[in-house]
Amino acid sequence: MATTATPSTPDGAPVPDSVPKQTKQTVDPYNVTGEVGADGVVKAIDYNKLVDEFGTKKIDDELLARFERVTGKKPHHFLRRGIVFSHRDFETILDRYERGEPFFLYTGRGPSSDSVHVGHTIPFEFTKWLQDTFDVPLIIMLTDDEKYLFSDKKTIEEVQGYCASNVKDIIAIGFDPAKTFIFSDFDYVGGAFYRNIVRLSKHITLNQARAIFGFNESTNIGRIHFGSIQGATSWASSFPHIFGEDEKQTVGIPALIPCAIDQDPYFRMTRDVSARLKFQGKPYAKPALIHSLFLPALQGPGTKMSASIDESAIFMRDTPNQIKNKINKYAFSGGKVSVEEHRQFGGDTSVDVAYQYLRFFLEDDDELEKIRIAYENGEMLTGELKAICIRELQKYVAGFQERRAKVDDDTVKLFMERRPLKWGGNPKAPVVVPKVVDGEGAEAAAAADGEAKMTKNQLKKLEKQRQAEAKKAQKAKEKAEAKEKAAATAAKEEKTEQTEQTADAAAKEA
Ligand code: TRP
Repeated sequence: MATTATPSTPDGAPVPDSVPKQTKQTVDPYNVTGEVGADGVVKAIDYNKLVDEFGTKKIDDELLARFERVTGKKPHHFLRRGIVFSHRDFETILDRYERGEPFFLYTGRGPSSDSVHVGHTIPFEFTKWLQDTFDVPLIIMLTDDEKYLFSDKKTIEEVQGYCASNVKDIIAIGFDPAKTFIFSDFDYVGGAFYRNIVRLSKHITLNQARAIFGFNESTNIGRIHFGSIQGATSWASSFPHIFGEDEKQTVGIPALIPCAIDQDPYFRMTRDVSARLKFQGKPYAKPALIHSLFLPALQGPGTKMSASIDESAIFMRDTPNQIKNKINKYAFSGGKVSVEEHRQFGGDTSVDVAYQYLRFFLEDDDELEKIRIAYENGEMLTGELKAICIRELQKYVAGFQERRAKVDDDTVKLFMERRPLKWGGNPKAPVVVPKVVDGEGAEAAAAADGEAKMTKNQLKKLEKQRQAEAKKAQKAKEKAEAKEKAAATAAKEEKTEQTEQTADAAAKEA
């Protein structure tokens, strides 16, 4: 929630408007800024403080060691470098993976513009890696409704347009269509999903929503309600075409949500409601979370990249030349003012944007460490560091553009169709709780096409009827067979008798 310190000068006089106001750091789904000091300078976001305030857990070496033991995979460099730095109940997910119990991945994007930048792709890159690692279903939500509700100007048509292009950007990350379902709220709300949205909204009071998100009396009620939509996507029972219609089973399947830390309030709220909700005596699984920090804007730590400020970000449609110019011109440098001074004192990698970007985009730990040492001891100059950063970003963006060019409308349809997904889970511990069998998924898919669909109970009844009828038919068949057999035997006996008689007669004649 946004908490703003009352700005004042040391003598208590009100601050004139021209002086930047001193504020605490703000991180919620709608605002992200670092603390503004008395000098008016924005500080880097203090992520440790967020862990304390939000009540999450830091990802430590012990957890990473366990991750490697359980999955047999070296933790992603985002995990190794503290870019994905905090979690809720990630251990529980590892327990389930170890035991072959189902869970799924859930992440999303608010389609607020069609200018996707590298800051947007970070959580998706990590999500793809998690999907490859765990081999589980992934659900990607596009909150077109959210972006309409939280913008003063955007029309529904506009956000739907962004949605259509954002889906292609997301697909270009490289998700596996066999295990990924992408939906937009305007399209998917209804049915099982809407029932869950309403279950969630019924358990959140206005007071709670205000405390979590900082709403007030003038907030439109769509915004106040929106959290229940983002939250209800955490429940597997919102997706019967993937997890089956048996809610008693599906309410127990948790989501693992990779997201930037600003999204945590939605899921704190959902976890709280999950703990209080039951379906026919079976509790709802609380979603687990794994949080990433923000890719800083080119201007430095303390803000994140903005889609509406061209100089703040590297966009996925930028040309190699634009990338080069932006980094050279805008990337905040931790180097010293003169070459002499830099050689003598070295640069500060903790604020240097080019170095910070390399932590995200340069996978090789040894190379990164060499760069850090060389820059900090003054051997490497800012221009050289920026050149490496430019090279890596050009490579990353070019790879994306190549894949993006191949995504067409048919690919989009494939990902957004309501259909069963196929996944394997832990090869050492095959999933023990039944997945949807193809037949049930096909039912759900048929329903999506507007055909009449039966509920689980109706299906059960029908199956019982079918079995009873089959039994009856079998009995009748057996009876008929027995009758036939009896008749055949009788006929045979008669025939034998006749034959014998004929033989007798012949013998007599002879
Ligand atoms: N609210 C998010 C945004 O504006 C989109 C979103 C929906 C999301 N569900 C999510 C992000 C789950 C991360 C995880 O971008």
